[in-house]
Amino acid sequence: LQQILLRDPKKPPVVFHYFPWIGSTVAYGMDPYRFFGDNQKKYGDVFTYVMLGRNMTVCLGPHGNEMVFNAKLSEVSAEEVYTNLTTPVFGEGVVYDCPNHRLMEQKKFMKFGLTTETFRSYVPLIVEQVEDYIKKSPFFKGPKGTASLSKIIPEITIFTASRTLQGKEVRDALNGSFAADLHDLDMGFNPMNFLMPGIPTPGNRRRDIAQRKMARFYMDVIQRRREDPEQSKDKSDMVWNLMDRKYKDGTPVTDRDVAHMMIALLMAGQHTSMATTMWIILHLAHQPKLLEQLWQEQLSVLGNPPRPLAYEDLSRLPLHNNVIKEVLRLHPPLHSIMRKVKSPLVVRGTPYTIPSTHYVLAAPGASARDSRYFKNPSIFDPSRWETQTNGAADENEEMHDFGFGMISKGTQSPYLPFGAGRHRCIGEQFANVQLGTILATWVRLFEMELPGEFPEVDYTSMIAMAKAPAEVVWRKRDY
Ligand code: HEM
Repeated sequence: LQQILLRDPKKPPVVFHYFPWIGSTVAYGMDPYRFFGDNQKKYGDVFTYVMLGRNMTVCLGPHGNEMVFNAKLSEVSAEEVYTNLTTPVFGEGVVYDCPNHRLMEQKKFMKFGLTTETFRSYVPLIVEQVEDYIKKSPFFKGPKGTASLSKIIPEITIFTASRTLQGKEVRDALNGSFAADLHDLDMGFNPMNFLMPGIPTPGNRRRDIAQRKMARFYMDVIQRRREDPEQSKDKSDMVWNLMDRKYKDGTPVTDRDVAHMMIALLMAGQHTSMATTMWIILHLAHQPKLLEQLWQEQLSVLGNPPRPLAYEDLSRLPLHNNVIKEVLRLHPPLHSIMRKVKSPLVVRGTPYTIPSTHYVLAAPGASARDSRYFKNPSIFDPSRWETQTNGAADENEEMHDFGFGMISKGTQSPYLPFGAGRHRCIGEQFANVQLGTILATWVRLFEMELPGEFPEVDYTSMIAMAKAPAEVVWRKRDY
């Protein structure tokens, strides 16, 4: 009653809760989309909920996406939300542990390394990593069997990303102690560190040791390459691209900065691509007919038997691309994008102003499963992309340069799996190359089905993952 009577009409409505500090933490954490949907019906597109003492204001729909993604630097801050989680993992001086203009320059450096030319060299490397993994894996002995994607896909993702972006030294090191360090570092990337930072748990101590060891490893790679460039003639990876650069004001990008950026790239790409790959394979196992259509697409476009996959082939496989798009519609890995409010934010078309004590949260995954924008939104149907666009009201969207190249502001779209605005993903094209190549290779290797029900979503790790073990029944394809 108190919550209703004391409501300030100028502030967004607050989701009803029994316990003050805990608020709606549990309902949100268990299934954020259900939580958003239920409360959208009661309160509209903009409402506040309490999460461990924080006031989180959810901004739904294309307008909500626009408000959060394209707010001014003086209005919201991403670093204030993410730094406690990311800085101990990535290391100091990069991404959210530096002023925003530095991040924009770092993103520009990273983007320089993601060219068509490098992608061309990456496709055969990814194919090789996947085929080699399947050949050697104990999970794929014999002509048929059952395999847990929760065990396999994290490895395939890290091997393909490391062999391409991170360079041969890192890929080779993953066969040794680097893998254990990566695991310890990865454990630091969890919601507890996001919500209650700085707790000196044994896990966080292992994280800090692993961070220093990994950074040292990258710095040694850089030093060796500098002394003897012939050691690594293949110059398509990101280490070569980031080495020996200078920021606009003349400050050199140190080897430590490069090491920390490499760790950031590894982490940013690993969980997102892994979750997406798992959902792709699960949907194919769930719809064997669709898997067959993909196989037929390869036969008709690339010959029978299909020729070795090349970068240019990826854009000639529309059904493959639509499968990826549709998976990212229903399962965007990042379900909640948050910012700390820095100055009061007026919500257009409403009487509300969001105070600077609040956080704002956009959920493009919520608008991507809303029937106002997508017909039969809960149905997984890649063919919808044959006619449907990304739903932007204005297809000639405004372009903007935040410092890391011209990007579409993407504001009015209900479909934004890679975000928008100054924090927009720079890994989209790489992710599409990685996902497309893994998908096409998988289609060549296997027929599949699901052994049981389609797995539920596990939201406990901040990324929308398929619940372990996420098994599929596979049969090696004869061709
Ligand atoms: C930012 C999604 C893969 C690097 C983002 C954001 C999203 C996103 C939604 C915006 C976050 C925010 O606004 O707070 C995805 C998805 C991926 C993917 C769905 C794959 C399916 C990758 C890969 C890399 C990468 C492979 C690296 C090669 C980055 C970086 C940022 C970013 C550096 C910028 C962070 C910032 O400016 O604050 N990504 N990402 N991502 N992503 Fe990705």
